[in-house]
Amino acid sequence: MSLAVQIRQHGGPEELHLVDVAVGEPGPGEIRIRHHAIGLNFIDVYHRTGLYPLSMPATIGMEAAGVVEAVGEGVTHLQVGDRAAYASQPPGSYCEVRVMPAKCVCKLPDAISFETGAAMMLKGLTAQYLLKKTRPVEGLQPGDHVLFHAAAGGVGLIACQWAKALGLQLIATAGTDAKCQLALANGAAHAINYATEDFAARVKEITGGKGVKVVYDSVGKDTWDKSLDCLRPFGLMASFGNASGPVAPFAPGALGAKGSLYVTRQTLFTHIATRESTQAMADDLFAVVASGQVKIHIAQRYPLAEVQQAHRDLEARKTTGSTILTL
Ligand SMILES: NC(=O)c1ccc[n+]([C@@H]2O[C@H](COP(=O)([O-])OP(=O)(O)OC[C@H]3O[C@@H](n4cnc5c(N)ncnc54)[C@H](OP(=O)(O)O)[C@@H]3O)[C@@H](O)[C@H]2O)c1
Repeated sequence: MSLAVQIRQHGGPEELHLVDVAVGEPGPGEIRIRHHAIGLNFIDVYHRTGLYPLSMPATIGMEAAGVVEAVGEGVTHLQVGDRAAYASQPPGSYCEVRVMPAKCVCKLPDAISFETGAAMMLKGLTAQYLLKKTRPVEGLQPGDHVLFHAAAGGVGLIACQWAKALGLQLIATAGTDAKCQLALANGAAHAINYATEDFAARVKEITGGKGVKVVYDSVGKDTWDKSLDCLRPFGLMASFGNASGPVAPFAPGALGAKGSLYVTRQTLFTHIATRESTQAMADDLFAVVASGQVKIHIAQRYPLAEVQQAHRDLEARKTTGSTILTL
């Protein structure tokens, strides 16, 4: 048996219930893992509210770290007793023990703690594919400006540091002056408080009127229109989230009028669809963390039983950096 956080219907944080569930043996291609720490992510909010619908009842959560307890047939990259961490479909990480597909689970280097592993896999692999694989047609060279919204959050603080390591001038946005300072302290070249400033005007100012080659936008509804105004011709609008709500349908003609822009909507789960791609991306993430160029900031810890409060704080924009649920 395992303690798990289940929802029986979509709704607010009050729908998150701690229950006992039975845990079986892993089948072919699966493992059983005992968690030591669990990562909290904004996608967990979309799963809870039903923006991304799930069949019920559902255990949510997409990220954790722990020890492999049992290995199913055909799994060769993990053994019983291995320390491991993952960002993975299907949801179900808000629990003590689970059976899950092995392909997205990676051995965790000894130098990385369980808490750090749980705080960095989903967010760090996202920063990896955004900065390394989601690039404008003209490419990115050291010194180029990129705009990154919600830069003091979980994905954001990793992206600030990684962009700096790549030589990029990351222009951060965040909702308070304190969050802007945090982004700057983590490698952002500039920071804009988008609650009080016109971020498109500030981006034009910072880039000498040119605009940026790429906008990484996880805020969605509230930032979409102005983000397009931040791009230079042939620039890339990389949408990867909807913290403020989903982006409204738009007319492609606007992209022509604003300078033959490109738009993409990315999701991590396409990038980690295979064992090989997951491991290659994880190795890149482990290396940048091991080098000290990217530090994982766990700014909030909640016992699993206080998961409702964790969701309230995440949605109320009270958190910075990564948040974990402890066991
Ligand atoms: N597509 C993918 O592959 C992928 C993977 C991982 C994450 N994501 C997305 O990336 C974003 C960041 O994820 P995260 O887990 O690291 O969360 P997070 O950034 O720690 O938290 C979300 C942040 O979004 C900002 N925000 C702006 N408007 C908001 C609103 N109306 N309500 C709540 N927050 C708002 C807040 O920062 P400010 O107060 O500074 O505005 C808030 O702290 C999320 O949108 C998530 O869905 C996408």
